[in-house]
Amino acid sequence: MTQCYRGAMMAAEYFPVPLKKIVVDSVPNFDLFIRQKDRYVLYRKAKIRFEHQALNNLMDNRIDSLYVSKRDLELYERYREEVRQGQEEIYGKQGFDGRFVDPVEVERYHDILDNYHVVDHAMFKPGVEVDFKVFYHEETDVLPAEDFESKLRGPWELTVPFAPTREIMIRNEDKTAYRDFVKGVLDEAMGGPPKQQAAALREMSKIVIKDVLADPRSGEGIKQTDEAVGSLVEFILDNETSFYSLMKIQGHDYYTYVHSMNVCTFSVALGTAMGLPKKPDLEWLGLGAMLHDVGKSMVDSRLINKPGRLTEEEFKMMKDHVQMGYNTLKEHHNLPEKVLEPVAQHHEKLTGIGYPHGLKDSDIGLFGRISSIVDIYDALTTERSYKKAFSPFEALSFLSKTRDDYDKDILNQFIVMLGKQMEKETAAK
Ligand SMILES: [Fe+2]
Ligand SMILES: [Fe+2]
Repeated sequence: MTQCYRGAMMAAEYFPVPLKKIVVDSVPNFDLFIRQKDRYVLYRKAKIRFEHQALNNLMDNRIDSLYVSKRDLELYERYREEVRQGQEEIYGKQGFDGRFVDPVEVERYHDILDNYHVVDHAMFKPGVEVDFKVFYHEETDVLPAEDFESKLRGPWELTVPFAPTREIMIRNEDKTAYRDFVKGVLDEAMGGPPKQQAAALREMSKIVIKDVLADPRSGEGIKQTDEAVGSLVEFILDNETSFYSLMKIQGHDYYTYVHSMNVCTFSVALGTAMGLPKKPDLEWLGLGAMLHDVGKSMVDSRLINKPGRLTEEEFKMMKDHVQMGYNTLKEHHNLPEKVLEPVAQHHEKLTGIGYPHGLKDSDIGLFGRISSIVDIYDALTTERSYKKAFSPFEALSFLSKTRDDYDKDILNQFIVMLGKQMEKETAAK
């Protein structure tokens, strides 16, 4: 019986159901289908619990509608009726994973993202003087980090940095003071242990790319980003086996500047593993990867961190970040076309299902291919307001399920590279 569901069926036999109508942890008693081009393919048989993982997978594949056979219309309507009765209260506020989302909390969360900058505690040695205030970030709150500050200012016997379990932030208006402070740490770290250097380089890159995101037209911003990328490339070439220290995971939230920095680091490391020369390839690849999401600064920040599913209209606006980023860089800066490749192509897929142009196969360049793998890997392994982070293993198994979208050789190299890094990390513990 089920067999005949697979394969091409007439569109008239199915009706679309927006994903948000299928409630997490419910058990729909009808089959669910997905549409692939003009075919309807059985996605989930009836009476299987629709768990978080299913929702995450669909969302990561940018699927926002499922289909139900018209024969099951009555079953579907009864299901919706039950859901409405049982969940009327939270229905209007259901976040993507079905968790309750309070609009006031959402507003506070956005305020924090707009007004604070996340910093790495590894920058702070006990007893160091700082002329800015530090805060702890706790979900939708920021609290003065008094105990942390007292360790900075007061006499302290430890000589290693202390690691608070909470994310540390500074106010945006203190960014210049923090930048000067990081510069001092960076100068001190040069020639020191690679881990210290990595942390300082990472902090510096986060600041410069954040400035570019705030004003992508600024020539000074691009110049400083280019310099920061140059230092990262040097570091990765000198420390090929320990570049992973640049990827130190901090915090739980998604910040475009942290993501940009991660995509740059992974891309350069992957390019290095593939044997690309430093000049101009690695430097251009690194700069393009750092700038790849610059167009996000032109999309409403409320959309980027919206704790819920994007509507079709919102998703369209979100997709515009590619073209807007590319156009702005092209118009205001004289950058080689190769640098712009990760910007233009990081959401394209070899199968032609990507955006903005639905490019296929050889239309997608080497830098586009590298950045598309790295971009999705970093997105999957970062926690978002609507989903838990995937472990590296889960992210790689997800990528291998959709491997036709990516360059096989590059994906294999990426897996090998991550495997080596993880081995090293485990050995170091
Ligand atoms: Fe993007
Ligand atoms: Fe991205």
